[in-house]
Amino acid sequence: MVTNQRITAEELDFKQVVDHSLNAKLIIDGTNVLYVNNACLDMLKVDEEMLIANGYKSYFHPDYQEKYENSVARALEGKRVELMEQKMIRSDGSLIDVEVVCAPFYNKGTTLVQVIIRDITERKENEKLLLQSEKLSMIGEVAAGIVHEIRNPLTTIKGFLQLIESKDKSDQKYIQIMKSEVTRIEKIANDLLKYSKPKVESFKVENIVEVVQDVLFMWETEAFKRKITMEFAATESNIPILSEKTQITQVFINLIKNAMEAVDNQGEGEITIEIHKSAAHVFIKIRDNGYGIPKEMLDKLGTSFHTTKEDGTGLGLMVTYNIIKNHNGTVIVDSQLGEGTTFTIVLPIEYENRKMESSF
Ligand SMILES: Nc1ncnc2c1ncn2[C@@H]1O[C@H](COP(=O)(O)OP(=O)(O)OP(=O)(O)O)[C@@H](O)[C@H]1O
Ligand SMILES: [Mg+2]
Repeated sequence: MVTNQRITAEELDFKQVVDHSLNAKLIIDGTNVLYVNNACLDMLKVDEEMLIANGYKSYFHPDYQEKYENSVARALEGKRVELMEQKMIRSDGSLIDVEVVCAPFYNKGTTLVQVIIRDITERKENEKLLLQSEKLSMIGEVAAGIVHEIRNPLTTIKGFLQLIESKDKSDQKYIQIMKSEVTRIEKIANDLLKYSKPKVESFKVENIVEVVQDVLFMWETEAFKRKITMEFAATESNIPILSEKTQITQVFINLIKNAMEAVDNQGEGEITIEIHKSAAHVFIKIRDNGYGIPKEMLDKLGTSFHTTKEDGTGLGLMVTYNIIKNHNGTVIVDSQLGEGTTFTIVLPIEYENRKMESSF
């Protein structure tokens, strides 16, 4: 029932109000916790005894301790302290972004401090997502500009390649590779414009063993120059998959490039590529004995632009993961720091084609 009856501040039990507040609140005398509300305990995933036993300060991230202590000292002097963004550590070790306000709290002649904390983790996540999508749209714009600029030189290169092809009969294999590589650049450049999913109709039956071998052939000279050993083994010579050849080729170019960069300067670099299949899937393993990937980075691979290289874009794996997803495949990464990394690509085998093959 709603009444118009007003109650005075003296009559109101403020403890009840604060107990159920959505913001986390602590009342401290500078060192000890005198009061903590439920929102604070929930946020830090602790109970009151644990918070008191561990000392509430241990839940503030060490990087922010000093700033926090200064604010408490100012509040104890009766001064207002502006809002601060900080990080706290929950009892399970996870980090949360928070906004903290310290304000003086007068109680029976003594000055205490009330610490008001708001969990802003979600807001921070949204800010990050926004940044990411801004980055993506920026890349889209840059891509459009690049595509426009590289079309003309590509046409010139193609023209001259055709000319050499008709005149010089000695290095046909290299000329063929150069021609197909130029076509690929054109295709990639055009695809950049419509960066989204490839059209289903452009998927064809391809022999994945051949696709991988072609990429290896391309990297052969580079590997030789860098004194990297590349081993290749496949249990079959023909494993058909349904794929967009330019894109699936891009995947192996990216993975082998990463593997070569990981073993470079390490001496005795070794990259092994193995292909085998089960009844329904083909497994392509690319193993290197390079510097490996830190655990905390493994989970994030392929989901955001992240690079540890001076001249890297961090786009390679994101593109790779997207392409494999569009091919109904999966990427598995196994890595040990200082030992090496194995990327396994799993793709569905194209059944229709297999039936046709065996009936021949
Ligand atoms: N085989 C690998 N061994 C060790 N680290 C790797 C390997 N593959 C990827 N990484 C790590 O993942 C990061 C992201 O790789 P990705 O291919 O997306 O970008 P990049 O190689 O840094 O840049 P770009 O591909 O544009 O040249 C790399 O910077 C590297 O730290
Ligand atoms: Mg790369």
